[in-house]
Amino acid sequence: MTGPDPVARIILDEAGDLGDVVLVVDDADGTLATAALERGSRVLAACDDIRDEEQLPTGVTVVDLYGEPDLADVTTVLWRLPKAVAAVADVAEVLALRCPPDMRLYGGGRDKHLVPAMNDALRASFGDVSASRGQQKSRVLRASLPQATWRTWPHRAANTELGLDVVAHGNVFGGTDLDRGTRLLLRALRQDQPVSGRALDLGCGSGIVAAVLAGLGWDVLASDTSSAAVASTTLTAEANGFSIDARRANGIPDDLYELDLVACNPPFHRGAAKDSSAAFAMVSHAGKALRPEGELWLVFNSHLPYLPVAREQVGPTRVVLRDQSYIVTCSTKR
Ligand SMILES: C[S@@+](CC[C@H](N)C(=O)[O-])C[C@H]1O[C@@H](n2cnc3c(N)ncnc32)[C@H](O)[C@@H]1O
Repeated sequence: MTGPDPVARIILDEAGDLGDVVLVVDDADGTLATAALERGSRVLAACDDIRDEEQLPTGVTVVDLYGEPDLADVTTVLWRLPKAVAAVADVAEVLALRCPPDMRLYGGGRDKHLVPAMNDALRASFGDVSASRGQQKSRVLRASLPQATWRTWPHRAANTELGLDVVAHGNVFGGTDLDRGTRLLLRALRQDQPVSGRALDLGCGSGIVAAVLAGLGWDVLASDTSSAAVASTTLTAEANGFSIDARRANGIPDDLYELDLVACNPPFHRGAAKDSSAAFAMVSHAGKALRPEGELWLVFNSHLPYLPVAREQVGPTRVVLRDQSYIVTCSTKR
């Protein structure tokens, strides 16, 4: 029995008495929720990543921070802070707007992942913010006196290059910007791809690929593990007058098959660790969800070994475009 990891331990130590209703945020392995349940609190939980949500213990109520979450009874928020300052700022706003005035928030992280801008992000929404002393290379940021009065997130920006408005919550890859790899993928799709049928933007982020495909006439679906991404894709679609069915899923939702096209700029890491396994799994999902002769369009950093995986999991694969850093491939389902 190893007990809580250093971040969970310092969050729980700092919080002390949790009160009646605890909201755990991004509780990646369910440790915080389990401790709160053991202390007799009612537990609400919000995880950006669906894979984290699946680790939560039974007995918690899952809430969607990008919907209309009812947080009116929350006494204490226990939060494994995300690495992106923008994600801290966005979620802090939701918490400050929806939790009662006497709530207390304890956000913890490894020292190496905490930056002073996170204190500022919390200060934008809370009247009192302070940092704990370090313990086992981990620390807690405490916040109380919620004072946000309106939402400044999600952000919306016009992308003149694509002729689209892009909407992004704080925890979305690249925010409202166009990633260089995505730019190459879109160039390839725009110049080569005939318009027909159902396309999936796999790992949709802000929904920028989904929106371009919708503009090209595809019937578009989108999926992402991240609730911030799914909410952003829906908003990007609305902002441009498209109807896109965006869903939260690890890979491709089970009921999506016989797809004509899957377009994907896969992640090359999860959290802090560089790890291609999620990307390989996405390629394999695409291989299963495409109809025969359907196509997977992938963009990846040229040094990453995705080409043989695409050939094996999907079928014959050709290089469509490349630049100094990225390569776009098209694999045809065997
Ligand atoms: C490199 S970003 C690309 C985002 C967007 N398509 C773009 O081009 O700007 C990769 C996206 O894949 C999502 N993702 C990571 N693992 C996933 C998985 N197993 N299933 C679905 N989406 C995943 C991430 O949350 C992230 O939004």
